[in-house]
Order: sequence, then C-alpha cells, then structure tokens
Amino acid sequence: MRHFLTLKDYTKDEILEIIDLAIKIKKETKAKIFKKYMPNQTLGMIFEKSSTRTRVSFETGIYQLGGVGLFLSSNDIQLGRGEPISDTSRVISRMVDMIMIRNDSQKELEEFASYSKVPVINGLTDKFHPVQLMADYLTIVQHNLQDNLKVAYIGDGNNMTHSWLMLAAKLGFELRVATPKGYEVDSDILDEAQKIAQTSGAKIIITNDPKIAIKDTTVVTTDTWVSMGQEAEKEQRIKDFQGFIVDENLMKDANSKAIFLHCLPAYKGYEVSQELFEKHSDTIFEEAENRLHAQKAIMVWLDKHR
Ligand code: CP
Ligand code: NVA
Repeated sequence: MRHFLTLKDYTKDEILEIIDLAIKIKKETKAKIFKKYMPNQTLGMIFEKSSTRTRVSFETGIYQLGGVGLFLSSNDIQLGRGEPISDTSRVISRMVDMIMIRNDSQKELEEFASYSKVPVINGLTDKFHPVQLMADYLTIVQHNLQDNLKVAYIGDGNNMTHSWLMLAAKLGFELRVATPKGYEVDSDILDEAQKIAQTSGAKIIITNDPKIAIKDTTVVTTDTWVSMGQEAEKEQRIKDFQGFIVDENLMKDANSKAIFLHCLPAYKGYEVSQELFEKHSDTIFEEAENRLHAQKAIMVWLDKHR
C-alpha cells in the first residue's frame, strides 16, 4: 500500500504515470464520461484548516469516480478535543477506503499514515502541498512547456516552495527560488532536493533577487506571503516582502511565452498585481480545475497499488 504524503516518496516515472492518468481522466470527464474507477468507496477528508479548492475537488472527484466523500472538520470530530492521532487513524481507516488530511504538521500527517489501514493523501501541511504540484505540472504539460522547463518561484519559502523543490529535483528541471532574506526555504528540504538533483540533473538556484530568479523562465509562480496560521505576522511580512510582487514589470524579464501560475487563494496587490493576475487568469483557473483531474488520478493510482 502507498500513501501520497510528499513527492519525495515518488519516482519520476511514477509522477509521470499519474500525470498521464490525469490527462486520460480529464479527457473522459470533459466528454462527460464518468468511469466508476472506485465504486462504493468512501474518501474521509479531515480538515484542520480552511479550504475551497481542496475540499471541492476531492469531494467532487471521489463522487465522479463512483464513491463518496466524507467531510470531517477537526472542529467537529474528537480529534479537535484531543483524541490522539493514532486512535483517530485506527478508527477512521477501518471504516473508509482512503483518507485525505489537511493539517498543521507533516510529522503528524506521517504519524497518522503510519497507523492507517488505507492510503493517506496530504491535502497540505506546514511543509508540503504535493497534490497542488501535480495539478501545476499537469497544467505545464498541457501548455507543452515540459521540455527545457525553467520555473521561477518568487515569494515566501513555504509549503508550496518546498513542493516545487521536490518536483524539480525528481523530474530534473530548473527551478529558481527568490525569497526575501529571512524567509528562505527549510535548509533540510533544500539539502534533500539538492541531493536528488545530483542524479536527476535538476538545477536549483536559490537567491534573494526576484530579477535573477525570473530571467528567461518559462513558468513563473508565487504564493501568498501570509500562509494559514501566520496571520499574526501579517504586518511584518507585508513590510519584509516589498519588492517581491510579481507584476508586469518583473514579468518582462521572463520568457515572452511564459505562463503564470498561482495555487490560490491570491491576494492581489501583494504577491501578484491585479493586472498580471487578470492577464493570466485563464491559465490560473485552468490550474485550479486541474486539481480535480490530478487528484482523481492520484486516488485511482493509490487504489490500484494497494
Ligand atoms: N490551493 C489550495 O489548496 O486551495 P484551498 O486552500 O482553497 O484548498
Ligand atoms: N502557503 C499557503 C497555501 C494555500 C493553498 C498556505 O499554507 O496557507
């Protein structure tokens, strides 16, 4: 049995196999063909944090696959009142067929998975957001940008950045990360990514200068400066991130055909300008829709590998 906790656990071939499956399932879905790949299966969806895309895409996705999604807010289940993760996992995994969790801690997610009888999917933690990256890469492939791929990530060194590091390391593309000083990526995750990059041929460049990061790249991306749980730091962060907005002026230095991606929600006027966001909105909302298709593929793949 496999879990989907971080891209670190997946080979390049496995990632590409899931992407191919996502393309196939997306085509079927667009043609209104809803193959019941997972009939009568239940997906438990535990949320300790807010969500629009993750909830809607997983719940719709499992329904389209022939199953049903069970939304479990941690405020409503005993986990929120202190029932241990180990017990919660051992109970829920005896009743459902697959579990998705969004929580505050990759460590706790891994603990949950270690007790689970069924595959567990990371729906975002403090460290990683791997399902988002599968949707992002699907979008890149559908724009035919996978060859000589050069990605610039401008902004906070957070769960999205760490996931980009892992994707680049595994698939072997060039990733340039620009963060303000003091907001760099976790050094442990960077070291792991650099180690994997030695065999995959990935090129990872870390800088504090957005102009260096963006030069000639074919995909430009960012994320909020204030992730969920960091609300108290908002004012300080807004000051510290000045100069890191992705706007038309910065984007001029990217390849002229570059696409702009954003995992959303976007805070316009902060990490991205209103103007640039609207210019690239077709791609951004296609990326959001791809959450549905990519995650259906992840669920079908995990179901096949148990
Ligand atoms: N991108 C993303 O995961 O969005 P939600 O927080 O709305 O799920
Ligand atoms: N870095 C953001 C991503 C939201 C999808 C957060 O963790 O809040």
